Amino acid sequence: VAALAVPASAPAVAAPEARTNERLSIVYGSQTGNAKRLAEQLAGQAEAAGLNVRLLRADAYPTRELKNERLLYVVISTQGDGDPPDDSRGLIDFIAGKRAPELKGLNFAVLGLGDSSYPDFCSIGQKVDARLGELGATRLFARGDADLDFETVSTPWLQQALNQAKEALKPAATHLATVTPLRPLAAAPAFHRDAPFAAELLSNQRLIARGSDRVVPDKDIRHIEISLEGSGLHYQPGDSLGIWPRNPPALVEAVLSTLELDGNAGVEHGGQSLPLRQWLSEKRELTKLARPFIASHAAHARSDELNRLLAPDHAAQFAELLATSQVIDLLQRYDGQWSAEELVAALRPLTPRMYSIASSQKLVGDEAHLTVAHVEYQSAGGTRWGAASHLLASADEGERLPVFIEHNDRFRVPADGSRDVIMIGPGTGVAPFRGFVQERVADGASGRNWLLFGNPHFRTDFLYQVEWQAALKAGQLHKLDLAFSRDQAQKVYVQHRLGEQGRDLYDWLEGGAHLYVCGDASRMAKDVHAALLAAIAKHGGKDEEGAEDYLNELQRQGRYARDVY
Ligand code: 2AM
Repeated sequence: VAALAVPASAPAVAAPEARTNERLSIVYGSQTGNAKRLAEQLAGQAEAAGLNVRLLRADAYPTRELKNERLLYVVISTQGDGDPPDDSRGLIDFIAGKRAPELKGLNFAVLGLGDSSYPDFCSIGQKVDARLGELGATRLFARGDADLDFETVSTPWLQQALNQAKEALKPAATHLATVTPLRPLAAAPAFHRDAPFAAELLSNQRLIARGSDRVVPDKDIRHIEISLEGSGLHYQPGDSLGIWPRNPPALVEAVLSTLELDGNAGVEHGGQSLPLRQWLSEKRELTKLARPFIASHAAHARSDELNRLLAPDHAAQFAELLATSQVIDLLQRYDGQWSAEELVAALRPLTPRMYSIASSQKLVGDEAHLTVAHVEYQSAGGTRWGAASHLLASADEGERLPVFIEHNDRFRVPADGSRDVIMIGPGTGVAPFRGFVQERVADGASGRNWLLFGNPHFRTDFLYQVEWQAALKAGQLHKLDLAFSRDQAQKVYVQHRLGEQGRDLYDWLEGGAHLYVCGDASRMAKDVHAALLAAIAKHGGKDEEGAEDYLNELQRQGRYARDVY
């Protein structure tokens, strides 16, 4: 259920200006739900403090009201390499554009969320913050740039936001007529991100035979089934399962021995005292590198080479280092001494990993299914793994894993079952669409289902081949287009199939179809977006701008949704 609260139109008792002057607007742009959750938290606290507050998802923000806004907080994430969340594109274009209004009367503050393992960390929050300033608005306090362990930055930022709002606004208690209460949030489930459920692993199967791929010989994609029985947790197709990983034990031991540190030594940090081994296993990120740790290690190792890599003119090499190395590689390559306390303080807190759920509860009941690419590669120092995917891939049946559900209201089968759906999901991006088709079949939805899937080889990488073919036969899947990229001399990708099927694509969209994209964000989703524009332009007789307007309108209507990572 959307926690999006949009106040009803202004009651007659208050003039619009008066409302605007005394109101706090909180706008969020969120892809994975963290920004949304923080914005909701702030809105709830502001309301409890008696303030007149409205909470809006960025695509529900009426941009014409911006010029009259007096107090605005923006909580917005940055995707991968510097993209805004899908729900924020319109608002960002509006404020970046030439027609953006002067905002002399506006007071604002921005909380950005991001992932510092990407070079363009928090760049969207920075852009919004800078642009609002340029337009003449007054920054109430400094922007927060929150990393994956966002609480360290978001908690003080939210506190400050609340304090400043209380100071700026008269409590609305005396203007009760103007207050539109926020819709109460759904009762919090017993298990959530900070109190995960220990879920039993029911099944762990390889979807791709070992050694089937010559380019990536160890390629390993898993179908995982997890039991939610007894948790009270519920999900809808489109939601994600969050997993709190543990680092591989051999990796923890390698860090300890490289730094000659005692794993049993107690380390106190942030009011918590644990043996160093446990910090490194359960509490600290070892499988992802980020700039702050590299900078710290450059100082510990007194390494000129590392310092050079951190300089702006070595951005490409730095990005390469981030993409191909882990903490252990850095420690082994550049000799430097760390104390246990310093190390725990410098490493990022371990954060949960999100997997798009590949099932529908209407078919599988208390289970949640996942499609997991086991991240495994060779670095100079040996085999490296992704923390959560390795934990899942090596888990035995009956083992318990700490999980929770992350809802994604923007990625849902159409409420109207007679609508057609077009699902573009190459690689593990196919996962949510398995859930979509299960759901639509269980609902008896009359709309058609079109799946576009791609992977390197037909013979080895056709994920859920048997299920898709059975669904086609049973009339549950109506159109299936496949792009096996390496089965011929020329690469063929899902967007090429989209291009070939442009006429159908446009006809389906004109007929009210909903369009979904899931999978790789940095290359696939961008190329697919371009292919969609090209097909819409060609078959809809539109120019570039017309095609863009068409896709933006679909997005606005919730008919073009993406779950990309
Ligand atoms: P490739 O690895 O052979 O280049 C799932 O990962 C599939 O996505 C693979 O077949 C992969 O092809 C393909 N892929 C790689 N880059 C892509 C892109 N820019 N657009 C769409 N698919 C891409």
